[in-house]
Amino acid sequence: MPARAWRFKSSPAHLIIILIKIYLKNMLSQIPIDLGKVKKENLNKEILRVGIIAELDAVSLYEQLAEMTDKENIKTILLDIAKEEKTHVGEFQALLLNEDKEQIEELKKGEEEVKEKTS
Ligand SMILES: [Fe+2]
Repeated sequence: MPARAWRFKSSPAHLIIILIKIYLKNMLSQIPIDLGKVKKENLNKEILRVGIIAELDAVSLYEQLAEMTDKENIKTILLDIAKEEKTHVGEFQALLLNEDKEQIEELKKGEEEVKEKTS
C-alpha cells in the first residue's frame, strides 16, 4: 500500500482524526489576536476574551463531532464534554465581568433590546 493511501480512507474514525488535526493546527495553537500589541491595562480582558472564544469553539467542535459519530457512548461523552465547556465559558465570563464593567452594562442593554423586539 502506498504510504499516503491511508489519508484517503473515509471511515468516520479517520474523518474525525483528520478534522481534529485540522482543528488543532488552525484553532488551538494560535491566539486570534496579537497580545503583544495590547495595552497593559487591557491585557487581562483580552486574555479572558480569548479564553471565551476558545471555549465556545470547543463547544462547537464537540457538538459537531457528536453529530458525526454513530456510537452512542462516544456521542454521550462528547456532549457531556461540550456541556463542561459551557461551564468554562461562564468561568471566563465571570472573570471578564470583574475586569470590564462596560461589558456588564452592554450585556444588560442587549438583553433589553431582545426583550423589546421579540415580546
Ligand atoms: Fe474548556
